[in-house]
Amino acid sequence: MKNRGTLINLNGEILDPADAKVSVFDRSFLYGDSLYEVVRTYRGKPFRLKEHLVRMEKSAKLCQMRFSQTSAEYEREILRSIEAYRAQPGKQDEDVYARIVVSRGSGKIGFGLGNLETPTLYAIIIEPISMFPNKPFEKGTQLQISERIRNHPRALDPAMKSGNYLNSLLAYLTAAEAGYDDALMVDQQGFMTEGTTFNLFYVNRGIVATAPLDVGILDGVTRRAILNLCIEQGLPCREVRFPKEYLYEADEVFVSSSLKEVFPVLALDGKRIGNGKAGPVTRKLRDAFDDLVRRELSLA
Ligand SMILES: Cc1ncc(COP(=O)(O)O)c(C=O)c1O
Repeated sequence: MKNRGTLINLNGEILDPADAKVSVFDRSFLYGDSLYEVVRTYRGKPFRLKEHLVRMEKSAKLCQMRFSQTSAEYEREILRSIEAYRAQPGKQDEDVYARIVVSRGSGKIGFGLGNLETPTLYAIIIEPISMFPNKPFEKGTQLQISERIRNHPRALDPAMKSGNYLNSLLAYLTAAEAGYDDALMVDQQGFMTEGTTFNLFYVNRGIVATAPLDVGILDGVTRRAILNLCIEQGLPCREVRFPKEYLYEADEVFVSSSLKEVFPVLALDGKRIGNGKAGPVTRKLRDAFDDLVRRELSLA
């Protein structure tokens, strides 16, 4: 495999991907017993990295994981890895995708923590952002509302960003097989939750709405930023439970994540949303988000 410049930081050691090895007895491999976070950079600077690391601490509490590093160390190592990536020839102007994965560790097979023979292990993966291209904003995205429901908060709580994404991955695969870009999921009562790797919003008569956290979704860093931007921009916004029919009838639907930022959904289950074009509120929030990133990261 040709190395695209990808660089790995494994427990503090910066390595070529070919040299970054994890044991088959690692619990992330055996059980998906790991947590992760993803940020992207803008001119080399990650957006809201600290907030992502606070969320990772919350995830750790939800699964009784004790990190062997502090969040401050994770932050330092992520920043160091981004710098190391950009120090490579021809990479100094490249933005990156940065993923940190923390595994509970490795040891003997078996769930009991007494089987662990290592402390938590972390890997930071730095890839060029160009590996994760979004479709052009104007083209938007076409999604399927999956038959597969989002995990119940009393099962694998969606508030925890764990390394076990199989439920979402399967929803994605079914959607992709049917020709959609990705999938949205409802909860067991039929209320909309979120997408496989992104949060969900709709706009009707100028009111912006998104599912509340307690329906069972990830507390997205971008979602939170958008809710604040709505307040700043004087756009009424609500966190409410809603069924899929509200989306079909909405003026606009959009999704959010650190990678997708604010991104329009132009069709759902093959039905056109609004006039089939990115709407004015989605555009306004996209512009406001771009501006927020520029201000916060002091990008001229
Ligand atoms: C299930 C899920 N929802 C929402 C998001 C968006 O979160 P953020 O805005 O913090 O990237 C993600 C991101 O990975 C996700 O996996």
